[in-house]
Amino acid sequence: MNLVQKFKHKNLTKKEKIVFLGIVGLVLVTVFSSAWLSLYNNKSETAYTPAGNVPQQVAETIVVPESETTPPVVEPVSKWPITYSSSEASSITVVVNKKHKLPSTYVPDLTGVTGGQMRPEAAQAMTSLLFKANEASVGMKIISSYRSYNTQVTTYQKWVNQQGQAEADRGSARPGHSEHQTGLAADLGNPDGSCNLLACFGTGAQGIWLANNAHTYGFIIRYPDSKESLTGYQYEPWHVRYVGVDAATAVYQSGQTLDQYYGVEAGGY
Ligand code: DAL
Ligand code: ZN
Repeated sequence: MNLVQKFKHKNLTKKEKIVFLGIVGLVLVTVFSSAWLSLYNNKSETAYTPAGNVPQQVAETIVVPESETTPPVVEPVSKWPITYSSSEASSITVVVNKKHKLPSTYVPDLTGVTGGQMRPEAAQAMTSLLFKANEASVGMKIISSYRSYNTQVTTYQKWVNQQGQAEADRGSARPGHSEHQTGLAADLGNPDGSCNLLACFGTGAQGIWLANNAHTYGFIIRYPDSKESLTGYQYEPWHVRYVGVDAATAVYQSGQTLDQYYGVEAGGY
């Protein structure tokens, strides 16, 4: 007779009763604890959701929002353009280009010259140049010399309106970036106006004389042919810049741009 049959017939010894009850107790404890654990796990894996919503299973791995893992993209701050101080701006050899500009408030000393205004030393040299050019039968006139910051605002905007900004930037300086604001630059043209501000000025008698002689009066052709990547501007055979006879002669003989000659960073904005 096994333990269950003995239990049915109520003829268990005291020791057998203890063993029987122990087994039953163990079974009950196992069943109830399994049920409770299963219930508890289900509860903890269910996220709280407002009434009416379907409960969502919480993902096992924690997803960190991208904004917390990817550093924000910080654009490098360009050091260009560098703005000169007024005393730097007033140097006869100041290099003004797309990376180096003049203060908007900068106004040089000026004096009248036929057709415009220039700094006194440049005006005197320009008067000599125009006189000698006339004697050599290649008379020229000033189209534009000193231009204030505000005049350059209007001038540049006029070109942007006509050509769009990308093309305008190849031939017209943004305000503060024009050598005309130094009072040391001038645009020269033929007396009859042919080829004014056009590349063909460079192949005419006046343009050729200017390229060969300007340095002897202290001027350089500031934007030579095929140097746009260096100067930032297209060929301007009519735009001369006063730097003094010694510097102009040295730049002329070097075959370099003014920026290269002085080792000043140039090119685009
Ligand atoms: N045309 C020259 C670059 C100027 O605007 O100063
Ligand atoms: Zn010019």
